[in-house]
Amino acid sequence: MFEPPAWDERYSGEGKVWSGDANPQLVAEVSGLEPGTALDVGSGEGGDVIWLAGRGWRVTGADFSANGLARAAAHAEEAGVAGRTEWWQVDAHELDAGGRTWDLVTTHFLHPPDGGMSAVVARLVTAVAPGGHLLVVGHAPSGRHAQMSESHRRAMFLAADLVPSLPADFEPLVVEQRPRTVTRDGETIEIDDSTLFARRGG
Ligand SMILES: C[S@@+](CC[C@H](N)C(=O)[O-])C[C@H]1O[C@@H](n2cnc3c(N)ncnc32)[C@H](O)[C@@H]1O
Repeated sequence: MFEPPAWDERYSGEGKVWSGDANPQLVAEVSGLEPGTALDVGSGEGGDVIWLAGRGWRVTGADFSANGLARAAAHAEEAGVAGRTEWWQVDAHELDAGGRTWDLVTTHFLHPPDGGMSAVVARLVTAVAPGGHLLVVGHAPSGRHAQMSESHRRAMFLAADLVPSLPADFEPLVVEQRPRTVTRDGETIEIDDSTLFARRGG
């Protein structure tokens, strides 16, 4: 699941792939912020974009899957927030906003292969406005990933792995794994959300 065609196929079937609910760490960290502009990278079906737009943010949803973006845009329309959203087809590895910045840059469960999240974070920080925030969330490595390929296992990360990618003017506010209870295939399990939340000086 590391290339656009696989995600396009996943987003071409019947029904939603994701719940449509905002991710819990986004709600936890961003609820207290004054709405401004936001960029969500790996926006999938748009759940986080729609939640942010519903709270008054002007949001850019970015993803490399054209089908994902089309679904997300349709969901934003249904939710009545399309006017506060825009969509950007881009590979996070090549993300270059040309100097444009956002008050919040967020990404959830992007998981590029082979430890690639550090390089992605090095790009995301360039899109954070002075005084703005960066929120990066993903799965922490665990025994559940033991059967996966090395490339997939190295797509999981700890929050602390990403701190070296923060420039000196970023202050890490949260660097931790947060336990979360989820139901997968009828089974209730505990997973850890690796959570990096940082503020750019300004
Ligand atoms: C696991 S889904 C998460 C979607 C959404 N963030 C959420 O939490 O519901 C990962 C999303 O990231 C996108 N994605 C994966 N790798 C990407 C990359 N290198 N650049 C841009 N988007 C990517 C996929 O198309 C997919 O929509």
